[in-house]
Amino acid sequence: MSKSILITGGAGFIGSHVVKLFVTTYPQYRIVNLDALTYAGNLENLTEVEHAPNYFFEKEDIQDEQVLEAIFAKHGITDVIHLAAESHVDRSISDPLAFVKTNVFGTVNLLNVAKKVWTGAFDQHLFYHVSTDEVYGSLHDGGFFLETTAYDPQSPYSASKASSDHFVRAYANTYKMKTVVSNCSNNYGPNHFPEKLIPLCIHNIKNNKPLPVYGKGENVRDWLFVKDHARAIDVVFHKGKPGETYNIGGFNEWKNIDIVRLLCQKMDEKLGREPGASEKLITFVQDRAGHDLRYAIDATKIQQELGWEPSLQFEEGIELTISWYLENEGWLDRVTSGAYQTYYEELYGSK
Ligand code: NAD
Ligand code: TYD
Repeated sequence: MSKSILITGGAGFIGSHVVKLFVTTYPQYRIVNLDALTYAGNLENLTEVEHAPNYFFEKEDIQDEQVLEAIFAKHGITDVIHLAAESHVDRSISDPLAFVKTNVFGTVNLLNVAKKVWTGAFDQHLFYHVSTDEVYGSLHDGGFFLETTAYDPQSPYSASKASSDHFVRAYANTYKMKTVVSNCSNNYGPNHFPEKLIPLCIHNIKNNKPLPVYGKGENVRDWLFVKDHARAIDVVFHKGKPGETYNIGGFNEWKNIDIVRLLCQKMDEKLGREPGASEKLITFVQDRAGHDLRYAIDATKIQQELGWEPSLQFEEGIELTISWYLENEGWLDRVTSGAYQTYYEELYGSK
């Protein structure tokens, strides 16, 4: 049976790679991208597929129950891959409620609609919730996050994602909905909004602006190329066992300061600058409140049970990423100016 998959947050960084992968790999599936186009959503991420016959876009908010019901009916939605979220830790520190509204309320709203529409046939429908490793908290003494690691979220962002994960599992347990959850480490790659560390540094190095490093730059993150995450989502969607959780990661830990230095070195080469020129832009700034020290995923389960592993080495992925940003200066200018709204209106009208 063919599927009609609702992908939420499909105009964002990771969602757009997932939408492009599914639209092109599965022409027999109907792919419905539902996205509210917040500051982080950008239809320019999807130009490669915007005219594909199996692709549909709905500019809507997951907080609106009636709209969701109408979209389920209109497209005959059979499955959900849920990525829509507020995703930036620093923003969650200044406005936690925005994270509760979208990440918690929005997710429960979507679960309720799926439950209502799919009741009586839960075995034929999958609700796939995409989450983060940040729900596990901060590692201080070595070790890795396993699927069995107890949740210990430390920021308003991770608390909201942890809450949404709990709701998804509660719906599986209580109502017997078929669900799956994956928790991934930090992603990087093309189309990453330039408020996050890697694209922000690329943008600032190019423009000779300061590179703000929080604290001493010693916090550690485990980085995965975004297309490898999209591939993992494909694998979990098709082969994951209902009710299970899969950790996804790059086995690729870096201290922030080392990433920033690597970016400086590679950008100096690409821009023909003196070696060491961009490092002068590094500026240590006040630390993030409650800054998690280290995240590190053990991705053995998805490797062994579903046969997924990262395809790219970090150096290769970083080269690709820098090249993409240098070749797509217009994209960066437009996402930072908000001019893509005009693009949207030209494509879809003024709704
Ligand atoms: P993003 O901020 O780039 O994109 C989020 C998308 O969701 C945007 O297109 C935005 O317009 C949309 N959106 C926000 N609120 C909405 C609402 N109320 N209704 C409908 N659409 C809404 O985020 P991302 O980095 O692509 O992350 C996607 C998902 O993956 C999130 O759930 C995030 O928690 C998770 N995740 C991200 C990372 C990472 O490194 N970025 C790692 C692991 C998991
Ligand atoms: P970020 O890209 O915001 O992802 P997350 O907080 O979800 O891990 O940040 C990655 C790391 O880089 C994190 O330890 C915070 C740090 N950071 C800086 O040092 N400077 C910056 O300007 C930003 C945005 C992040």
